[in-house]
Amino acid sequence: MGFKRYSCDVEIIDIKEICKNVFTFEMFHKEIALRARAGMFLSLLPNTETLRRPLAFMDADPEKSTFKVLFSVVGKGTKHFSSLRVGDKISINAPLGNMFLMPKDKDVEPVLLGGGSGIPPLYFLAKTLNNTGKKSNVILGARNCETLFLKEDIKKFANLYLSTDDGSEGFYGNSVELLKKLIADKSIKNPFIYACGPSPMLRALRTLMLENNINGYFSFESVMGCGFGMCQACAVERNTTNDNKKEYALCCINGPVFNFNDIKL
Ligand SMILES: Cc1cc2nc3c(=O)[nH]c(=O)nc-3n(C[C@H](O)[C@H](O)[C@H](O)COP(=O)(O)OP(=O)(O)OC[C@H]3O[C@@H](n4cnc5c(N)ncnc54)[C@H](O)[C@@H]3O)c2cc1C
Ligand code: FES
Repeated sequence: MGFKRYSCDVEIIDIKEICKNVFTFEMFHKEIALRARAGMFLSLLPNTETLRRPLAFMDADPEKSTFKVLFSVVGKGTKHFSSLRVGDKISINAPLGNMFLMPKDKDVEPVLLGGGSGIPPLYFLAKTLNNTGKKSNVILGARNCETLFLKEDIKKFANLYLSTDDGSEGFYGNSVELLKKLIADKSIKNPFIYACGPSPMLRALRTLMLENNINGYFSFESVMGCGFGMCQACAVERNTTNDNKKEYALCCINGPVFNFNDIKL
C-alpha cells in the first residue's frame, strides 16, 4: 500500500468525555482507517481557526472503517472540537507523518513511556504490538492520578506501570525514575524504548538510555502549520557530530518518530 494523504470532511460517529476536558472522537473513513499506523497523526481544522491542529491516531479499525483520536482542551482549536456533536463533519488531512517501527531484535522487551498527549499514540502501539504477539510494558507518568488516561484499556494488552509526581497513584516520582527502578530490580531486563511526552521527560530518558546502552524511538510534538512539509514551522535540529553545520528535520514528514538520539532536546 503506497503513501496517500486524504484531505476530506469526515463524520464523527462517537464522542466520549473520558475525564474532565479530555475527549475521544471516533471518525469514519475507509481508506484512512486502513492506512493509519501507530505514530502517525492527522490534522483537523477547527471552524473558528485558519490553522489545522495535529492529533495522533489513538486507534484504527480497518474492518469497521473507523479511527480514533484523544485530545485535551488546551486552547481555541481544541475548545471548538469539544463543542462538536455526533453526526457533525470535520475537515481533516490524514494520514500524516511516519510510524513507530517494530523492534528488529526479537529478544527485546518493548517499553512504552509517556504521559498526557503522548498517551494516545502509545496506546495504539501497545495494541499493535499485542496483535503481533508481543506484550509490551507501558509506563505512564502524570502530575496526579487525574491525567492518567486509558489505563484500564491499556491493562487489557500490556503490563502497566504508573507513576505520579504527588504519589496519588502508583510509584511516587516520575516515569523515568520508575523505569530506572524497574531496570535496577530486573523487572525489565532488555528494554527497547518508545516514548512520547514533554521535553524534560525525554531529556532525562535519553540520558538514562545512553548510560545503559538502550536503544529506541521518541515521538516529538513540535508546533505545526501545514502538516505535510510546505511551511517549515515544525523544523527541529538534528544532533550532529559537526558543530559548524546545523542540520534540521521536519517533524511532520521526517517524523514525528525519530531515533531517540537523532534530534536535539
Ligand atoms: C504530531 C502531534 C501529535 C499530537 N497528538 C496529540 C494528541 O493525541 N492529543 C492531544 O491532546 N494533543 C496532541 N498534540 C498537541 C495538540 O496538537 C495541541 O494541543 C493543539 O494543537 C492545541 O490547539 P489549540 O488551538 O487548542 O491550542 P492553542 O490555542 O493553539 O494553544 C494553547 C496552548 O497549547 C500549546 N500548544 C499548542 N500546540 C501545541 C503542540 N503541538 N504541542 C504542545 N503544546 C501545544 C500552546 O503553546 C498553548 O500554550 C499533538 C501535537 C503534535 C505535533
Ligand atoms: S508543519 Fe509545515 S512543514 Fe511541517
